[in-house]
Amino acid sequence: MRSQILGTGHFLPEHVRTNDELAQLVETSDEWIRDRTGIRERRIAPPDLQNSDMAAAAARRALEAAGTAATDVDLVIVATVTGDHPMPATAVLVQQKIGAGNCPAFDVSAACAGFVYGLTIADAFIATGRARRVVVVGVELLSRVVNWRDRTTCILFGDGAGAVVLGPQEDPSPTASALLGTSIHTDGTLAASLMIPAGGTAKPVTADVLELAENKVFMRGQDIFKVAVKNLTSTSKESLERAGLGIDEVDWFCSHQANLRILDQVASRLGIAPEKVLTNIERVGNTSSASIPILLDENVRTGRIKKGHTVLMSGLGAGISWGSALVRL
Ligand code: ACO
Repeated sequence: MRSQILGTGHFLPEHVRTNDELAQLVETSDEWIRDRTGIRERRIAPPDLQNSDMAAAAARRALEAAGTAATDVDLVIVATVTGDHPMPATAVLVQQKIGAGNCPAFDVSAACAGFVYGLTIADAFIATGRARRVVVVGVELLSRVVNWRDRTTCILFGDGAGAVVLGPQEDPSPTASALLGTSIHTDGTLAASLMIPAGGTAKPVTADVLELAENKVFMRGQDIFKVAVKNLTSTSKESLERAGLGIDEVDWFCSHQANLRILDQVASRLGIAPEKVLTNIERVGNTSSASIPILLDENVRTGRIKKGHTVLMSGLGAGISWGSALVRL
């Protein structure tokens, strides 16, 4: 049994932090950030807004778009690396906030690949008949784990959430809405390239940890850049092959918004025309797990992505984990 996306939703905090504001915190400039990343501004959550609040808001909008009652949801998957608490899973809080009853609810930690990991898991639950209505959320509150004194990382990230509701395919004809192919991978040998070194059980928070900001994001940006271009290209090809579709049949490239230069290079290697590459990085920055579903929902709601369109999604992040999904809306 194939699955299909029944509805999409997203949530962004209202507060905008511009590049010029960042230039008052660290030695950087609007010009440098725009040239190297494409980012102009990002959204920052206020102190009283939690990861699970944003996730629940996005999930409610996706449920409304799908015409699905929260009580009919039989699985909640939340992709995040910035959950409310180390324990329990943020999906537990989202289940409670949306009123989804006692269905299973768990988190997926695959950073910027988290949403395609979540979709892949949800698809497998539907394929085996274990679930009929799955909420998959990608959500991050990265502003609380970024080192605002590190100019190599603090310029990149933003907060937000996106969600989809997945259900069994309603129409089995070959051109109907469906999740057509997925591909996920991890290379644990690169784990140290992008991590929050302390705050887990390996290195609990101490005064020294706080002093060295080891409980904040650490990244070797150039290492990630190179592997991102290579692996986002190969995983996208894998999903296309699994779906039996050619690149010309893709209407939109809705990829993780890490860096405009990464997106350009991947699109060029895949042979996707620039006008098919969707972006919002200039307004939203890198929202990790939330990046793909926010971009997807924005373009569904503006009517750019229409029913019947084929959308190629791909993401790569800490792990290093990466993956892709090809979807007909
Ligand atoms: N402002 C001004 N100068 C800066 C800044 C800044 N914000 N940051 C770095 N620089 C300086 C560096 O110190 C360096 O100076 P030097 O030449 O004097 O040593 C110079 O700019 C060039 O630095 P690079 O690191 O070579 O810059 P690069 O072009 O690689 O851009 C960037 C850096 C934007 C981080 C890029 O490498 C990138 O986007 N990498 C991928 C990031 C990514 O995709 N992360 C994965 C997802 S995140 C997740 O999973 C949660």
